[in-house]
Amino acid sequence: MKIKINKKTILASALLMATAAVQAEDVEVLHWWTSGGEAAALSVLKKDLGNDGVGWVDMPVAGGGGGSAMTTLRARVTSGNSPTAVQMLGYDIQDWAAEGELANLNDIAAANNWDAVIPKALQKFSKYDGNWIAAPVNMHSTNWVWANKKVLDDLGLPQPHSWDDFVAAMQAAKDAGKIGLAHGGQPWQEATMFDGVVLSVGGADFYNKAFVELDEDALTGPQMVEAFKRMETLRSFVDDNFSGRDWNLASSMVINGDAAFQIMGDWAKGEFINAGKVPNEDFLCFRVPGSQGTMAFNADQFAMFKVDSASAQEAQGKMAAAIVAPTFQIAFNQVKGSVPSRTDIDPMQFDACGQKGIADLQYANATGGLVGSMAHGHAQPAAIKNAVFDVVTNHFNGEFGAEEAVEELLNAIDAAK
Ligand code: BGC
Repeated sequence: MKIKINKKTILASALLMATAAVQAEDVEVLHWWTSGGEAAALSVLKKDLGNDGVGWVDMPVAGGGGGSAMTTLRARVTSGNSPTAVQMLGYDIQDWAAEGELANLNDIAAANNWDAVIPKALQKFSKYDGNWIAAPVNMHSTNWVWANKKVLDDLGLPQPHSWDDFVAAMQAAKDAGKIGLAHGGQPWQEATMFDGVVLSVGGADFYNKAFVELDEDALTGPQMVEAFKRMETLRSFVDDNFSGRDWNLASSMVINGDAAFQIMGDWAKGEFINAGKVPNEDFLCFRVPGSQGTMAFNADQFAMFKVDSASAQEAQGKMAAAIVAPTFQIAFNQVKGSVPSRTDIDPMQFDACGQKGIADLQYANATGGLVGSMAHGHAQPAAIKNAVFDVVTNHFNGEFGAEEAVEELLNAIDAAK
């Protein structure tokens, strides 16, 4: 009998392929690592798991900060089709654990001594009710500036250390026909800058009062007004085409020398590295001036959704163990731009920016300067985070001034509580 190729057979074979794609020993991984640097880091993970006999079914959902990925996740879970492993941040992990959807990783954690090596600031998010429910991949932080060294050198500009010097440097770049600040106009990117700006105005105590305690005086007082004013200053150094631009394209503008600076988390370093650039030779990394000594962290973690079959559970366990293993932590974070999510890794394994990141983390942790990133879900759960995003973005786009922004902030947070 001849096999006829018609629509039905095509559909049937597509279905077969789809089923074959998720075999017992595969993990289907939902993530938002789609930029060049992120994809390079992801391939380190894929390779490690492959060596461990765990297959990879990719479920990328583009969009920095993970907002779109979380929307897709909700739809998948609601339709009874949860992915096996999901990239997640901070309070989102806690929310899914509270819904009873996440697998218990206690055995893997105990066998690999996670309690001793993972920083307590991270364990707060990786554990729910005392049980491990996520495997931390890294620690990123948001209050970074990335600068094109040649652009600065050509203008005779040293690395700025104070906010005023930073503004003067952006102005000098602008006067010379460069873009002062590379930026992509998306709410999460504005919020990412806001993390560093709030720290630069008031330090960690003020940041925590405002973003963690949601203290009314901190949210509406003169320091928050000043933070919004600083955002207005930043806005004045952005080019006309900033709206909707992806963060990695803004990084490229600094890499190419079209722009002097970008304020972005250290996933931006992944783009510089992926483009073959070298810290201190081609680019500079430094804390948002005024925020030195503090660090707004966000950690990527993989949460495992509950699965029934023993072989799928085994694959999840292997993935969780691989993520926290020291060799992986080094190889992955060198490429990703983040620092390890364990305390026992030799900093010399990292480039100058990575070493600085590790030293900054240790210093901030020892001196009360380590805070959870509001922009990346480590200060408040999604509802409040999104309320802050709206106000910061609307203000950045000129809908209202700094004085009104603080009132809007308080109202939006109150409504989201
Ligand atoms: C994640 C990073 C990612 C960045 C941009 C952040 O929320 O923590 O891993 O590179 O978003 O996509």
